[in-house]
Amino acid sequence: MINVNIEGCKTFVKEEEYKKFEGKALEAYDVLVSGNGAGNDFLGWKELPDETPESLITDCEAIRNDWKCKGVDLVVTIGIGGSYLGARCAIEALSHNFIQKKDAPRVVFAGNNLSEEYLAELIDLLKVSNVACVVISKSGTTTEPAVAFRIVKQYIEDTYGRREASERIIAITDAKKGALKTLSTQEGYRTFIVPDNVGGRFSVLTPVGLLPIVLAGFDVRAMLKGASDERKALAEKSGSNAAVKYAAMRNLLYSGYGKAVEIMVSYNPKFVYLAEWWKQLYGESEGKDGKGIYPASVTNTADLHSMGQFIQEGSRVMFETVINIAKSNRDIVIGSDEQNLDQLNFLAGQHIEHCNAMAQLGVKVAHIDGGVPQIEVGIERIDEYNLGSLFYFFEFACGVSAYTLGVNPFNQPGVEAYKKNMFALLKKPGYEKETEAILKRI
Ligand code: PA5
Repeated sequence: MINVNIEGCKTFVKEEEYKKFEGKALEAYDVLVSGNGAGNDFLGWKELPDETPESLITDCEAIRNDWKCKGVDLVVTIGIGGSYLGARCAIEALSHNFIQKKDAPRVVFAGNNLSEEYLAELIDLLKVSNVACVVISKSGTTTEPAVAFRIVKQYIEDTYGRREASERIIAITDAKKGALKTLSTQEGYRTFIVPDNVGGRFSVLTPVGLLPIVLAGFDVRAMLKGASDERKALAEKSGSNAAVKYAAMRNLLYSGYGKAVEIMVSYNPKFVYLAEWWKQLYGESEGKDGKGIYPASVTNTADLHSMGQFIQEGSRVMFETVINIAKSNRDIVIGSDEQNLDQLNFLAGQHIEHCNAMAQLGVKVAHIDGGVPQIEVGIERIDEYNLGSLFYFFEFACGVSAYTLGVNPFNQPGVEAYKKNMFALLKKPGYEKETEAILKRI
């Protein structure tokens, strides 16, 4: 169960103000739970932890076994934004930092940029691997994944033949429409569906996240169980509900105290992509109508040596949301050294995680003294169960928080603006007027 601690904000805010925002968050909670708010045709994610059929997981496992029989050792997962960040977050969090998991293919990601070098280097890797591909796009026409898929599909067809390619490519897309759906039907690809009522950034517990996570060798049943237990915990409406506390405090810090930047802080490098996933979730859900908290992130202790100065003494516009991990999955004790040149013998016999925890505590006090409020989000350890809880907590809290702010959490009208300009500059047929207009401005 996720634990939210807002004590590190209490010296910054007045109790009666917090109570006012708690009231607003409780009203927003009702809007989310009743399904009466803006964007309510995108609430399918709420039920996923308890309504994902076992057959979906066994279908994912069947693909894993099938590809294992073919000797596949590399799965290229193609997608962008909500169509890849959840899977990448889970796989990075659960994987060994240095060693590839035995009995599972390496899962790499493409289609999330337009770098020629990136794709050329991906082809270098394909040439020394036994390759399969999962292509994920609800629309099927998003430029970045579509470009990457052209390249990877061509490579797979040239290397294994078109018929075998149809067994090595899985598409996750819309149930009925779109370019990828049409292609899958033509080529006979196995497909999974992105539910109509789940937006990309809320899709980690659909096949969009579950299939790549299963292929990478991790336990999605435990992940769904963690999400389901968190759902139960959040079902109780009260001021101590974790989502209500998080939503109330961050909205108060923003609206009442000009804290317009929220920094997600973690002390484990496995959570770099948790922050990337969270940034999209909160940035795309709340940053609209001229409002919203800008989501940023640091990974400590590394970033204490880079961003630490700014957070301690720079513009006082930010607060921190720290991910507390109660237990390390591994143990290493610091040894004693005869010469003690680095003068660290006072740490001999201590666990490294104890040093990490003391760094975290020292930073907490220093940052609060420096004018940076801290919210803490606690989990037991990094594993599938706790990740499932975290995913569900942040999604649910995002809905509560966006409604507290007064915006529709489930649309993203602003992401289209750059596409029009890019297509005009690339001279896409039908964009002639836009091309003429933009060329006059650059
Ligand atoms: O959250 C979102 O809606 C976006 O990030 C989309 O997931 C992203 O743009 C990819 O879209 P698509 O799945 O249609 O390729």
